[in-house]
Amino acid sequence: KPKQAEYTIGFSQCVGSDLWRQTMLEEMKMELSLHPHSKFIYADANNSSSRQITQVQDMLSQGVDILIISPNEALPLTGIVEETYKKGIPVVVIDRKTSSSLYTAYIGAENYQIGKMAGSYLVNILKGKGNILEIMGLPGSSPAIERGRGLMEAIRNHPGVQVSAQLHGDWLPENTARELLRNKDKLKDVSAIFAHNDMMARSARQVLRQLGLDSGIKVVGVDALPGKGGGLDMVGSGMLTASVLYPTGGKEAISVALRILGRQSFQKENLLQSLIIDSSNVQLMKLQWARINSQQNDIERQQVLLADQFEIYKNQRLVLNFIVIT
Ligand code: FRU
Repeated sequence: KPKQAEYTIGFSQCVGSDLWRQTMLEEMKMELSLHPHSKFIYADANNSSSRQITQVQDMLSQGVDILIISPNEALPLTGIVEETYKKGIPVVVIDRKTSSSLYTAYIGAENYQIGKMAGSYLVNILKGKGNILEIMGLPGSSPAIERGRGLMEAIRNHPGVQVSAQLHGDWLPENTARELLRNKDKLKDVSAIFAHNDMMARSARQVLRQLGLDSGIKVVGVDALPGKGGGLDMVGSGMLTASVLYPTGGKEAISVALRILGRQSFQKENLLQSLIIDSSNVQLMKLQWARINSQQNDIERQQVLLADQFEIYKNQRLVLNFIVIT
């Protein structure tokens, strides 16, 4: 008789369709597969803060034991997260933050540092002189705010480098292309573009090519995802000059959630490592990912073999019981 679900984990995702968040979900499912008795409820708010609030309310009425949430925008989601927390339901915040410290745990890389790393990298490759055009993520989402601040901090003491223009890409490639084309004039005298994520960086590079402005302009993004179309590929092919690794934290979110539910010790702030990927280390990163991927496949094959063995064992027991009885 199958064991009943021990825990119900609700996961409220601000948007689910892009590669980064699909990777996050896969990591979560992989970790969950090692804890087969927990039930997982997933909702995708598709970039809408009001929809995300409704979806969290739904989860609460369904009775989740813990909420994992990546808040689309900080302020609009703060109320519902605080409410959940005050009801005694633990909340694990992942990637994007709320505006409050009322949550149980946070998982994510330090976005301020990411902005700063990108900024210092640009100061370096521009040799201390040049204009940067910044393409920003959704204004009310915490990584956009923090990456922007980090960038400014990095160039603060380098008077030769300035952010000559800022555009709103809202994390989306379509908005980036639209805004860049609408503000073509701002590309004049720009030596580099810092886009708050790789999808926007890719879009910026495409617009540059379209306008015949490609040559020489450096484009730096954030995420550095493995896999087809990910940032590593784009850095490898030279489409992007560099990308700052932004781990999704999917695996960590599930393991921290399970520790909380199991009343084991855990840390409130779980900060993930980040690093600049450019032509000097992209091959190494790709190799590392390929290895992890093949190990993952081995694990999945072993799981299938184990399941087969278990079936054989069950049948043998059945036959044995039968012999004993007759
Ligand atoms: C994906 C994404 C990432 C970015 C993160 C910030 O939806 O836009 O590209 O790093 O969200 O929250």
